[in-house]
Amino acid sequence: MSRLLALEALMHDYRHFLDAAIAAAHLAGGYQRHRVESGFVVDLKGDKNLVTEVDRESERLIVAHLLSLFPGHDILAEEGEYPATGSPYRWIIDPLDGTTNFAHGFPWFCVSIGLELEGELVAGVVYNPLFGELFTGSRGGGAFLNGRRISVSQRSPLSQSLLGTGFPYDCASDPANNFANFIAFQTAARGIRRAGAAALDLAYVAAGRLDGFWELKLKPWDVAAGVLLIEEAGGRVTGHGGETYRVENDRILASNGLIHDEMVSLLAAIPAGGGA
Ligand code: IPD
Ligand code: CA
Ligand code: CA
Repeated sequence: MSRLLALEALMHDYRHFLDAAIAAAHLAGGYQRHRVESGFVVDLKGDKNLVTEVDRESERLIVAHLLSLFPGHDILAEEGEYPATGSPYRWIIDPLDGTTNFAHGFPWFCVSIGLELEGELVAGVVYNPLFGELFTGSRGGGAFLNGRRISVSQRSPLSQSLLGTGFPYDCASDPANNFANFIAFQTAARGIRRAGAAALDLAYVAAGRLDGFWELKLKPWDVAAGVLLIEEAGGRVTGHGGETYRVENDRILASNGLIHDEMVSLLAAIPAGGGA
């Protein structure tokens, strides 16, 4: 642990950062709740990949709030580009995870805000504004759902486990589409949910509602907050081969720890990319 990390942990317990992220998540989530019934403009980023004006305005609200409090910090967010400041702090933001759900009126989406200090995740917030569920965590401080401590499930083996996953937007054109992985896990596990918001899936692993999760081609903003939550809830996050995980790794494997090795073995038996 670097001196800055150690000092920060000692002095602040990351609480002031977490409070800022919670306030920003409430701002964006409240706005999304308000817009869910209203009409909104939907644009295409790719064949299947949507973006709405609500994604963009949510990001504006979050970034404006965080930069008003921490003007020197770096921002990595899905919808915009922000100048690198050289700060050791980097906020990693998905203003609306589950855009396809949101655009179709399927009530399952969230705000995800993570914070890195010198490349290490130190705080994370995932907020489901329709359920009123706020998942929070900070390095060394535990993980919580609406203020109550959460931990990963104790379930094993894989055959009794409930898993989550998702599919990349380019699954129709790129063979690295996760289809073969899906068949293998659906065969080996009790069941799989593809709910459509990776950040919420990860928060659900932290809360013990899912026992494991894997996906490919996710971006740092999909995973940053959720990874911190799982680690603080006693779970394990690696790459698909069991290697040390960083948010830039687009092959994520997360679990309660107990079924992790089984999941690594299953993925190892399938050609890279898990295509069909
Ligand atoms: C998507 C969701 C989805 C996952 C996709 C992500 P978005 O994020 O998290 O569950 O399968 O790969 O891109 O586009 O809704 O923010
Ligand atoms: Ca996302
Ligand atoms: Ca998004």
